[in-house]
Amino acid sequence: MFRLPVALLLISALILLHCRPASAEYQAPGLITDQAMVVSAHPLATEAGVAVLREGGHAVDAAVTVQFALAVVLPWAGNIGGGGFMVVREADGDIYSLDFREKAPLAATRDMYLDSLGEVVPARSWRGHLAAGVPGSVAGMFAAHDSLGRLPMARLIQPAIDLAEGGFPLTRLEAESLNGRLEAIRTYSTQPSGYTAQQTWAEGDILRLPALAATLRRIRDAGAAGFYAGETADLIVAEMARGGGLISHQDLLDYEAVWRTPVEGSYRGYKVIGMPPPSSGGIALLQLLQSVEDHGFSRWHSPADVHRMVEAERRVYADRAQHLGDPDYWPVPRPGLLDPAYNRARMADFDPRRATPSDSIAAGNPAAESEQTTHFSVVDAEGNAVSLTTTLNGGYGSCVVVGGAGFFLNNEMDDFSAKPGVPNAYGLVGAEANAVAPGKRMLSSMTPTIVTRGDSLFMVVGTPGGSTIITSVFQTILNVVEYDFSMQGAVSAPRFHHQWRPDLIQYESGSWSELDSSALARRGHAFRSRSSIGRVDAILVRPDGRLEGGADPRGDDTAGGF
Ligand code: DON
Repeated sequence: MFRLPVALLLISALILLHCRPASAEYQAPGLITDQAMVVSAHPLATEAGVAVLREGGHAVDAAVTVQFALAVVLPWAGNIGGGGFMVVREADGDIYSLDFREKAPLAATRDMYLDSLGEVVPARSWRGHLAAGVPGSVAGMFAAHDSLGRLPMARLIQPAIDLAEGGFPLTRLEAESLNGRLEAIRTYSTQPSGYTAQQTWAEGDILRLPALAATLRRIRDAGAAGFYAGETADLIVAEMARGGGLISHQDLLDYEAVWRTPVEGSYRGYKVIGMPPPSSGGIALLQLLQSVEDHGFSRWHSPADVHRMVEAERRVYADRAQHLGDPDYWPVPRPGLLDPAYNRARMADFDPRRATPSDSIAAGNPAAESEQTTHFSVVDAEGNAVSLTTTLNGGYGSCVVVGGAGFFLNNEMDDFSAKPGVPNAYGLVGAEANAVAPGKRMLSSMTPTIVTRGDSLFMVVGTPGGSTIITSVFQTILNVVEYDFSMQGAVSAPRFHHQWRPDLIQYESGSWSELDSSALARRGHAFRSRSSIGRVDAILVRPDGRLEGGADPRGDDTAGGF
């Protein structure tokens, strides 16, 4: 006689579970401050940046300090031997974007990563000296500081010098990741370094980097020439000679960071300001937002919402593979890709009940115009904002430490398409637009982004994660705008990703219930669970004008401010 009520109870519990806003736990706020904030991947870098803001530094000053500090305390991704992108919005509304992406050396050739049979040799663009592009980070920091900085450069670099000289305690995460890469670092570097000073590292061990401190002092004393000329340049070129790499004195002398016109677009009354090519991030993010703009969102990670987002993702990544590359070498159809009508048309064959197989999707025809990176977000006391993503590409880059100079060289050359249609380390495919050429910049997914509402700053956001960067930023923005998450909740919440090829949804555990995942499977989606996706560090301006930090719990990421 109890059967019917028990069954009813069970069914209603199931329905309740299904409809319960999984989002409630993601509404609790993170750190809140009144005036200024830094959120970065390491507490010591955050602390150094906040000190600059307390002295009245511009957000760009703090960004320079954080970039150099991360080059010491976050060796897997922070760097002077890599590159990145910076998006700036000043309190008066002026916007800028700075490209300090690495470039292919002048001696690079289109087929340099193919063997005699024309097949890709993946290790060649991933480890060792041939994997390294000409670094851009130091030129980038000086270009940013020359235009927008306020405090003396020597003041801004000093915390990094002190950390490298005096040493700093490794966090558990850093000790583990360094141990995981020590063998490769020993194999691909031609000389010992501070990183290889111990057989293994444990949490709390002090990492001292005197050679890096000396390099940083040369940069402090001679400016960018302290890196691109003189002793540091000699050390880089000598390292190339020992390891069979291509970077020459000419490459280093020629390197310049480039100010580019930021990508701008709107999403439901918000303005999104992003990085233009050679990053795919800004364009792809806006394409994604435009592709879902007409959609009524229902419940966080509901099958209907996820399905729509995935269908947008597979179409946008197909475009990315075909149309995006270094704009100095390839005619990127930027206005065409950013046209809301184009993106709406791309979704015209969207079927709410069925996944569209990626094999049946090709890049569109937009109107033509004639695992490791790190992101940080800064807002200063005047409301100027910096969104900066920087990388060596893979953790510890090429695993080559420049002998005597103490820093890792990137393995960014792997971001080129070594051969059309052959996936790179992130499974991304590309074509002619992103083929290797001397002096060309490789296509990136980095998506440092600033969002405004009306004339006011709303959000500063970005993340590492290779190909998943764009979709992580996409989800973080939607988590706040569509699902009312706090900044911290939006960053903490599990993420998923689709990139056209391979044709499957990659997802973090906790992304959805069994019930929702079956509903997605019924629409024809395939899945693969994976370890963490991205490390988003973001700042939200609350309605009362105070700042809320979202520091990613997937890492040692820390918000600080006042
Ligand atoms: O520029 C890019 O798109 C890649 N080199 C970024 C690499 C990355 O995010 C690795 N981090 N997990």
